[in-house]
Order: sequence, then structure tokens, then C-alpha cells
Amino acid sequence: MNQSEFKTSLMRMASDVENALEKFCAERDNPQKNIYKAMRYSLLCGGKRIRPVLALAVADVLGVRRDTVMPFACALEMIHTYSLIHDDLPSMDDDELRRGRLTCHKQFDEATAILAGDSLLNKAFELMSCAALHMDNPVYGLRIIADVSYLSGTEGMIGGQVTDLESEGKAVSEEILKHTYSCKTGALLKAPVYIAAEAGGFRISANTLDGEFYEKYPAAESFDENVQKLLRYSEIIGTAFQIKDDILDVEGDTELLGKPVGSDAQEDKSTYVTLYGIDRCKEILHEMTEEAKCIADSFGEKGDFLREMAVYLLERNN
Ligand code: IPE
Ligand code: IPE
Ligand code: MG
Ligand code: MG
Ligand code: MG
Repeated sequence: MNQSEFKTSLMRMASDVENALEKFCAERDNPQKNIYKAMRYSLLCGGKRIRPVLALAVADVLGVRRDTVMPFACALEMIHTYSLIHDDLPSMDDDELRRGRLTCHKQFDEATAILAGDSLLNKAFELMSCAALHMDNPVYGLRIIADVSYLSGTEGMIGGQVTDLESEGKAVSEEILKHTYSCKTGALLKAPVYIAAEAGGFRISANTLDGEFYEKYPAAESFDENVQKLLRYSEIIGTAFQIKDDILDVEGDTELLGKPVGSDAQEDKSTYVTLYGIDRCKEILHEMTEEAKCIADSFGEKGDFLREMAVYLLERNN
């Protein structure tokens, strides 16, 4: 598979995701219909759909049915979209453009944007629970729900947003920055592997639960080797994705990016670019991409899509 074949495949998968999202987040004609308008405004307007597409692609590698994975993949895109709506709020990054249009709080108002984010988060869990109830083995679905909760929460995306905001206006260590990236961006990019693998019955311990429940999770050694490799792949592209995002925030084109360039500087963010400078960031990004490609290659032909995905994420301009 070359890059152009990959892009055709990516577009087809993204379009399948688009259709499923449209179905799972339908408009309603009731007194609170405005909230559906705001949710749909942010959800259905051209994100890249990287996370759900990755879930489908990992499902292909592991031989898991795409239609089993699709509702969970869409739920993940809803959680991601909610994180963007809240990330853009005046109290966070204070941005006015997202996915090529006004941010939710600019198009509607702040209260509506907060509620639209909350609603997408709830809708995601409603969708995952319903999907789990309809699985041959609902426990597989429950495992996904437990892990997606973990990855989206205080030990994952939200945790990263916290340390990101706390790092504004000061120099932070590489250690904190790595932690921030692996949480705020890495966690939701690892989630596709959890979703696809667990939908197929593979066990992954996300160290989700404390106390007596935690004991019931299997030891890391019992993991499937391919799933382990896929997790490592997703970990690498997660951090690489945020480094590329930081580079684009400096060198990108607002028109192509669909969000404002220079937002990080305006908020005095600590990023890989402020820590290492842009040239070193590009080197790091190349190194990480090579490592991700190596893992994909170890799957032979089956890894083609993931290999080209790593290249696409390196070269992307939006
Ligand atoms: C943007 O994510 C937020 C980050 C984690 C850097 P994407 O670049 O995937 O945004 P969309 O979904 O394509 O709009
Ligand atoms: C956001 O990181 C990651 C999220 C959890 C939303 P950024 O703040 O850099 O994302 P953009 O650049 O606004 O998309
Ligand atoms: Mg942010
Ligand atoms: Mg932001
Ligand atoms: Mg950014």
C-alpha cells in the first residue's frame, strides 16, 4: 500500500465513521433540541476521525469485526469532540476557530458549549453501554467501557489537560511535558487499541481500578503479544501526534488547519517546541515515526495501513 492508496482507504473509513456518527447523534425535535444542534455542530463538521479510524484499522489487524467496533469508535470520537469543545473555552485555550468554523462557544454561547460537551460525553457512554448490551459477550463491552473511562479521565485526557493548564507561563521539565502529552493526547490515541482488542476478547489491563477490583485484572505478562505491539505503536503515535500539533501551531496554515495558528504562544504554553526548538522537534518526530513504522512492519502486509498512517501523521498539514 502506498500513501495514495492509504489516503483512499482512510477517506472511505472516515466516511463510514461519519455516517455512523450521524446516526448515533441524530437531531431531535423536542424542547431541548438546541443542545442537539450544538452537539452536531461540533461533531459532524469534518474532524480527521483519526481515533475511530485507528480503532477500525486495529480491528482489521486483529481479525475483529469492524461493525462490533464501530459504536465504540464513534463514542471515542464523541469524547474527543467534547474535549475539543471544552479545550477551546475562554477559561481554557480561549480559541475561536475549530475544524474550520467558529468554536462552539462562539457559534452558540458558553453555557451551551459546556452543556454540548457534557452531552457528548454522556452520549458516548450511553452508546457504549447499549453496544455492550447487544454484544454476544457483554463483558467484552464492559471492559471497553472501564478502560475508555480511565483513558478519558483523571489518569488520562483530563489529567493531561490539568498539567497542560498548570504549565502555562512557566518552564516545565521534560518529564512533566512527556507526562502531559501521553495523557492529554496519548490516552485517547491508545483507546482505539483497547477498543478493538477488547471487542475481540483480548484482555488488557489498563490498571483501571483500585483495591479489590484491581486484583481481578490479569498480570501484564498474560497479554497477547500483537496487542502489546499495537499498544506500543499507539503510544508512540500519540506523543508524536501532539508534537506535530505543536509544530503546526507555529508553522501551520490556519486555512488548512481549521484552527488558529499561534494559540500556544498566545496562551504562553509549555510545549516540545518551547523546550527543544522546532528543528529538534522535527528530528524527534522523525525518530518516533520510524519506530512506529518498524512496529507496523512487524505485522507484514497486515501492518500496511498502520505503517502508512504513521507517515501520514508525520506529513499532515491539518
Ligand atoms: C486535536 O486533535 C487535538 C489534539 C489532541 C492535538 P485532532 O487533530 O485529531 O483534531 P480533529 O479531530 O481532526 O479536529
Ligand atoms: C488539546 O491539546 C488536547 C485535548 C485534550 C483537547 P491542544 O490544546 O494543543 O489542542 P488544539 O491545538 O487546541 O487542537
Ligand atoms: Mg489545550
Ligand atoms: Mg487547544
Ligand atoms: Mg495544539
